[in-house]
Amino acid sequence: MNTTQSTTIATAAPPGLEPRLLAERREDLAAYRRLGGYRPLTDAGELLGEVESSGLVGRGGAAFPLAVKLRAVRDNGRIAGGTVVVANGEEGEPASIKDRWLLRNRPHLVLDGLRLAAAIVGAHRVYVYVSDPESAHSVETALGELEPDAFGGVDVRMSTVQPGYVAGEETAAVRAINGGPAKPTDKPPRPFEAGVDERPTLVSNVETLANLPYLQCHGSAAFRALGTSLSPGTFLATITGAGRPPVLYELPHGLPFTELLALHAVSPDQVRGALMGGYFAGLLNRSVLETTLDHETMRRLGSGLGCGAISVITDECPVAVAASVLAYFDRENAGQCGSCFNGTAAMAAAAGALRDGAATAEDVERLRRWSVLLRGRGACATLDAATNVAASLLDQFPDEVGAHLGGTCPDCAHGAFRAGRPYEAEAVRQA
Ligand SMILES: Cc1cc2nc3c(=O)[nH]c(=O)nc-3n(C[C@H](O)[C@H](O)[C@H](O)COP(=O)(O)O)c2cc1C
Ligand code: SF4
Repeated sequence: MNTTQSTTIATAAPPGLEPRLLAERREDLAAYRRLGGYRPLTDAGELLGEVESSGLVGRGGAAFPLAVKLRAVRDNGRIAGGTVVVANGEEGEPASIKDRWLLRNRPHLVLDGLRLAAAIVGAHRVYVYVSDPESAHSVETALGELEPDAFGGVDVRMSTVQPGYVAGEETAAVRAINGGPAKPTDKPPRPFEAGVDERPTLVSNVETLANLPYLQCHGSAAFRALGTSLSPGTFLATITGAGRPPVLYELPHGLPFTELLALHAVSPDQVRGALMGGYFAGLLNRSVLETTLDHETMRRLGSGLGCGAISVITDECPVAVAASVLAYFDRENAGQCGSCFNGTAAMAAAAGALRDGAATAEDVERLRRWSVLLRGRGACATLDAATNVAASLLDQFPDEVGAHLGGTCPDCAHGAFRAGRPYEAEAVRQA
């Protein structure tokens, strides 16, 4: 394994994988140019074609095809007379550190991707949207190194907000840039229809954008040389849990989960399951050992890769993990929608009571009902994340749930796992 240590977190890639996104140290403009960065773009339409053939899907959580969004914004912009691009680096997900790592260490890669996206959609203005001060400083330094016309006359701005789980949701980003609170709004309109200043707006995760320079230099066939046909390319995976410090990996989509465990030096025998997609996609039991890390496999299991954050559960009780995550959603939801505000509170209370051996079978039945009925409610998908956690706990860990109905399980009896932000990738947050 090729392991390097940035200022704050270990990074690694599987043997033989030439990283496309990770780098050994923070790069300045000269180093990035030596790699072929900021290559002049002669035909934006041709690059859009390459994005389409590459099958690149978003790395912010929803795995939506980038080319579809680029086309929609570009086409809507022809009518509206101008478009905006937002590089979303807010990364509200506590178990993820990839976006901050990219912004802190490869700001020019992200800016180059932003430049290319802006050219494709014909943007007149672009934003780098962050909450992490070190990321903001890194991007400002990188912008200071660039020549004034590096973006071809496009207005480049920073937008900095207070961190929060919902602050990176796309309508929250647009609302914050428009001068409001960083809280989601009802959809429609979606940002690609009317976003910043009511202009068609592309909101793309910074890792998604960071793949564009590779596509410009090497083309879609090279891009597809790694990954699966439906999840092409590599992705950044923040791995927490298993009693080990977090590591940021660049992995090819489709990698068997057991190979990730081997890289991370965790024995499969220790593994009880995993919390997938940061806090978003719920829990998997030991069946996670049979999976490969791609969107199609995870979708088949009713789970997801999300933003690529995976927390490996070893010693913690899954009931206690779910209770902590639900309590986090209860605290961190934006308090705008009754179903979310009340629903996360009710699910957190039920899961907390279950963890503490105080829940009845009726409480568990109610938790099951809420996990179905509350899905799809609320202005953003935070409530879906909470229902994913509740439903997957009941579905994947019936024995542990049963053990808690008879009191607490042996693990919790020794002191339940009560992390306020379970599996937080602290090393970077505290940097
Ligand atoms: C509650 C919530 C929080 C989100 N937080 C982030 C975030 O921090 N960063 C991000 O890139 N996307 C986040 N998203 C997804 C964005 O809404 C949006 O889909 C994404 O930025 C689009 O980029 P992509 O297509 O490149 O993935 C969040 C979504 C939800 C529902
Ligand atoms: S669904 Fe929840 S987190 Fe999302 S906007 Fe409504 S209250 Fe806020």
